[in-house]
Amino acid sequence: MDKDKFRPQVHCSSPENWMNDPNGMVYFDGLYHLFYQHHPYSNNWGPMHWGHVVSRDLMRWEHRPIALAPDELGQIWSGSAIYDEHNTSGLGTSECGPLVAIFTYHCDNQERTGLGNHQTQGLAYSNDGGSSWHKYAGNPVLDNPDCSPDFRDPKVFWHAGSTQWVMVLAVGDECQFWGSPNLLDWRYLSCFGAGIGAHGGVWECPDLIQVPIEGRGLQRWVLIQSVNPGGPQRGSGTQYFVGDFDGTTFAIDSSTKSDVCWIDQGPDCYAGVCWSNLPVDDGRVVFLGWLGNWEYASQVPTEEWRGVMCIPRSLTLRETSQGQVLCSWPVTEVAACRSAELVRVHEQLTPGNELVLLEDRVLTPVDLEFSLTLPDHGLIELRFSNALGDVYAFGYDVDRQAAYSDRIDAGQSDFSPREFPRRHWVRHTQRQLDVRMLLDSCSVEVFLAQGEVAFTALIFPHAPYDRLSVIAVGSGCIIELVAHRLSVKTSSI
Ligand code: FRU
Repeated sequence: MDKDKFRPQVHCSSPENWMNDPNGMVYFDGLYHLFYQHHPYSNNWGPMHWGHVVSRDLMRWEHRPIALAPDELGQIWSGSAIYDEHNTSGLGTSECGPLVAIFTYHCDNQERTGLGNHQTQGLAYSNDGGSSWHKYAGNPVLDNPDCSPDFRDPKVFWHAGSTQWVMVLAVGDECQFWGSPNLLDWRYLSCFGAGIGAHGGVWECPDLIQVPIEGRGLQRWVLIQSVNPGGPQRGSGTQYFVGDFDGTTFAIDSSTKSDVCWIDQGPDCYAGVCWSNLPVDDGRVVFLGWLGNWEYASQVPTEEWRGVMCIPRSLTLRETSQGQVLCSWPVTEVAACRSAELVRVHEQLTPGNELVLLEDRVLTPVDLEFSLTLPDHGLIELRFSNALGDVYAFGYDVDRQAAYSDRIDAGQSDFSPREFPRRHWVRHTQRQLDVRMLLDSCSVEVFLAQGEVAFTALIFPHAPYDRLSVIAVGSGCIIELVAHRLSVKTSSI
């Protein structure tokens, strides 16, 4: 058996052993830095370190030495990194401000006392552009004043309006905002979340960002907030809230209070946050999540390594009849990696006849787009399959007004027979179906209606899919489809 058959080709994955949340995402001096929750000695979650990869284009990732390891204050859990340009922290040099990482210390010994104050926030800094990191001697910089057992995942940004650093922190099933002039001294500002959004589990990995409204030249604040369990397909999921932030308080529009909005409707996009310090003329907000779900993360059938990130996505707000919707779209660097055109069709589908679009040609990794005007009833289904009998299906059921992703027979699933082999539904009301799909060796990411809906799932085919077909059931329609192979050259950083 090819042991590395699930190794993604265009997604960032752990070099070996365990990976979960993306951490410390900061752009500096031409490099996208990505740190991640990492257990370097086991393919299961354990004492957390920060692994480190860098990229110039968000597609080719080069592994760097581990950036942060546990110390006497605890394990290094999730957090963020910023460029302290004006050296407000004093941790830089006379020439340059430092990169500063802000993370959660999780202290196992303290946890055993049962006092609840085992999570605190610490800093590390780098004065060589992120190559080497030093823990701040005065750690922790934020103790846990109320002894909250879940007090973690700081995301820090500079808030120009109130001239301070703001930290958003997940606390129980709410989040808190803290302010600081220098990243070292923190003052409580406010909290958000009671009675709002999804509360099926603990809140984790928040982010507060300004997102451009498409076509308006304006921005609005969006709070991204992971919750586990309680996600849209059980287990882990990430919700968002659109609102206003005045430097102290985050408030959402009263009309949207009852709706839960998910940044991704699939089972496997979790703990995602956005890069800091992107060049102003870039203008993008770039999001990255972990392609996993705590329901079965430690059972997935990769062996020497375990953990993949989703494809980096640009976030925008779109005005729709449902209000402002947070849209996700693969960064333009993905389309730049398109190589061979695998198939292009414009075909009339007759009900009940499966049309084979491609056969005997390995499909993945693939960037595929298709569109069609939906008939009045029936369904349409795209099937990725192989000679071993694996079939991954993505379809739209007109009568249910919903899309589905079906991984029941997509490949290996015996590692989690109850949770993994499922058909996931996503409600989506449109006359026109516009779909973009990215499939890699162990994942599928689907974007509907130019990103109004994103859907991410792990899949573990026994062999690469090498057949693509489409079928309409109930009534016919015309489909337009084009698929390109993706390829990422080895890094040249
Ligand atoms: C989210 C999370 C974070 C925590 C980290 C530990 O997946 O549980 O809340 O900091 O993972 O690895």
